[in-house]
Amino acid sequence: MSTIYQATTSAPVNIACIKYWGKRDTTLILPTNSSLSVTLSQNDLSSTTSSSTSPSFPTTLLWLNNLPPEQIDLPSLSSSTSPSAVADTRLTRCLLQLKKLRKELVEDKDPSAPKMSEWNLHIASYNNFPTAAGLASSASGFAALTASVAALYGLNTFSSEQEQGQGNDPLVSASQLSLIARLGSGSACRSLFGGFVSWSAGSLPSGTDSLATQIAPASHWPTLHALICIVNAQKKATSSTSGMQRTVQTSALLQHRITDVVPRRMEGIIDAIKDRDFDAFGRITMDDSNQFHAVALDTSPPIFYMNDVSRSIILLIEELNRVSLLTSRHLVAAYTFDAGPNAVIYAEEKHIPTIVNLVLRYFPLEPGTFEDKLGVLGGKDASQVGG
Ligand code: DP6
Repeated sequence: MSTIYQATTSAPVNIACIKYWGKRDTTLILPTNSSLSVTLSQNDLSSTTSSSTSPSFPTTLLWLNNLPPEQIDLPSLSSSTSPSAVADTRLTRCLLQLKKLRKELVEDKDPSAPKMSEWNLHIASYNNFPTAAGLASSASGFAALTASVAALYGLNTFSSEQEQGQGNDPLVSASQLSLIARLGSGSACRSLFGGFVSWSAGSLPSGTDSLATQIAPASHWPTLHALICIVNAQKKATSSTSGMQRTVQTSALLQHRITDVVPRRMEGIIDAIKDRDFDAFGRITMDDSNQFHAVALDTSPPIFYMNDVSRSIILLIEELNRVSLLTSRHLVAAYTFDAGPNAVIYAEEKHIPTIVNLVLRYFPLEPGTFEDKLGVLGGKDASQVGG
């Protein structure tokens, strides 16, 4: 009987305030601009991945959300299988990089270490939120997978109890691991850290400087909350991956965003986070969401991610802020929308009850959509009209 080694790790969803939209290298997933996000707390929306390995596993298998397993063709590092003979996918690129690190940093240094880099893997991953919720799961999914296999290989010691990026004496830092998670999905590199995280675009063709770093831990600004409003739980019609490449190829506005807008906003939002300045944080977040949707619209053919409910939420929050600026001179909420119609509203904890009441007054929950903690907001959905 051979030993089975196992490790389990979770990673939460992150929501970008400065959006990543566009790749300069589609294989290495190198972005056209830097981005910055907030990682939600571990207990909210997260992916959990268990990885195991053993010399007795005949194939590498992947279970996603308890569906039947998928076989992954992965050459072992020492085998004579030509890499071109097996599928070259985002997943195989991540796993091969992790195997390489295991070999170089553990097995080549200690000949008695188990030769895990040559063995097959069993990987099971699930999300603690409904997969159909229309929320990006690739970020948390690839981050959890990378951290879990890294833990299995003894490269780090992340565990679900620890804040991401806080492993004990890891052989590989969380930023180095973010280079690997990035190969799975760009935004995944940011989910390896908790709190406020920036992903630097970098400039090297190898991509070794395109990594994530933590700007501040969640404990730096514990009163900042994110309210997630599910407007439509359907899978989006244009994936982020294909949508952003169409924008790179056709949008005239994108270059202006990359060179003139994002660098200034990155500096501004990092200062705002350091100062816990919600007014600056909120304004930059809303402006960047709006510009991201403007470049989507500037794509040919245009991409519409928001619908009528999304736009009504923008109007509601802008009106709430207008009144609040008159009375208290401060913003109370900031919306942001990813590649879909669902809104994320950032606000200080003390304002959350007001915002929830307001949103539910104008957009009552549709009954029976998710019995769990997520609800779909009602209202007319432009993407469903006539369709
Ligand atoms: C709008 O990371 O999902 O959420 O790298 O092709 O997997 P790939 O794309 P992905 O894109 C996320 C786009 C976004 C903005 C963001 O999270 O920064």
